[in-house]
Amino acid sequence: MTILDGKKVSNDIKNEIKQQVDKMKDKGEKVPHLAAVIVGNDGASLTYVGSKVRACERVGFESTMVRMSNTTSEIELLDKIEELNQNDDIDGFIIQLPLPPQINTQKVLMAVDPSKDVDGFHPENFGKMALDMSTFIPATPFGILELMERYGVETKGKHTVVIGRSHIVGRPMSILMGRKGFPGNSTVTLTHSHTKNITQITSQADIIISALGVPNFLKAEMVKDGAVIVDVGITRVPDENSPKGYKITGDVDFENVSKKASYITPVPGGVGPMTIAMLLKNTLLAREQRM
Ligand code: GUN
Repeated sequence: MTILDGKKVSNDIKNEIKQQVDKMKDKGEKVPHLAAVIVGNDGASLTYVGSKVRACERVGFESTMVRMSNTTSEIELLDKIEELNQNDDIDGFIIQLPLPPQINTQKVLMAVDPSKDVDGFHPENFGKMALDMSTFIPATPFGILELMERYGVETKGKHTVVIGRSHIVGRPMSILMGRKGFPGNSTVTLTHSHTKNITQITSQADIIISALGVPNFLKAEMVKDGAVIVDVGITRVPDENSPKGYKITGDVDFENVSKKASYITPVPGGVGPMTIAMLLKNTLLAREQRM
C-alpha cells in the first residue's frame, strides 16, 4: 500500500511555483495577486481562507483577503465582485463557499469574470472543462488528478466510482476521470444520496473518490482488494484530546480500508493541501494569461 502524500506533493508544487515567481521578480515582472472574499464568520471557511493567504505568502504571490459581514446583501457582494473584476492588479479571485442564505450562490459565481475565476466555478469554465478545452479546473479535482499523475496511478480502462455529486468536487471529478488522456479514460459511476446498493457498486470499483462529508462512511467491506482510495472528506468531529476541541475526519475508515488499498490518501495530509497548491497554480496561470 502506498500513501498518496498530498502534504509532500503540495510542498513540491509550491516550491516549483516559488521558483517561477522568483524568475518573474528577477525580470521585474508583476507577481500573481490572488484575492479571496469571505462572507460571514464560519470557522472552517475562515481557516481555509487563512491557509490560502498564507500559501500565497509562501510562494511570493500578493494576496488580499476581503472580509464581509454575515448580513452582506447580494447587491453588496455583486458590487465587490465587479470591483475585483475591474481591478487590474488582481489576477484571480475566489468567493469562499458556502455563502449566507440571503445570497444566491449561482448568481454570484456567474458574476465573476471567467478570466479571473481561479476556482473554475463559472459556467463558462465548467463547460470548457467538460469539453476538454483549456481552462481553470476546480482546485480540489485538479489536485486529485495531479496526485494521481505524480504517483503514476493507472486510470485508463479502470472503473472509477465517485461518491457525492457536489458542484465543487464530485460532479467535476466524474467528468474529469472520463475525459480522454491521463489521468482519465476511466469508466465512471457517479453515486449520490439516491443511489441504491452503494456497496455493490463501490466493491466493483478500481478507484473510489469519496466526497460525501460523512466521517468513516467507506468501510473495508465496501472496497475490493487493490483499490485506489481518494478521501475528500474533511469533517470536524469533536475530540476532547485535541487543543482545538475537534479533529478533522475523512469519509474513509482509514485503519481498515488502508489494509486492502493499493494507494490511499490520508486525512489530514492528502487531498486538502493539494487543493491549496492547485489554487496557486491556477492563479499563476491567470497571471500568465494576462501578460
Ligand atoms: N468551499 C469549499 N471548498 C471550496 C473551494 O474550493 N473554493 C471555494 N471558493 N469555496 C470552497
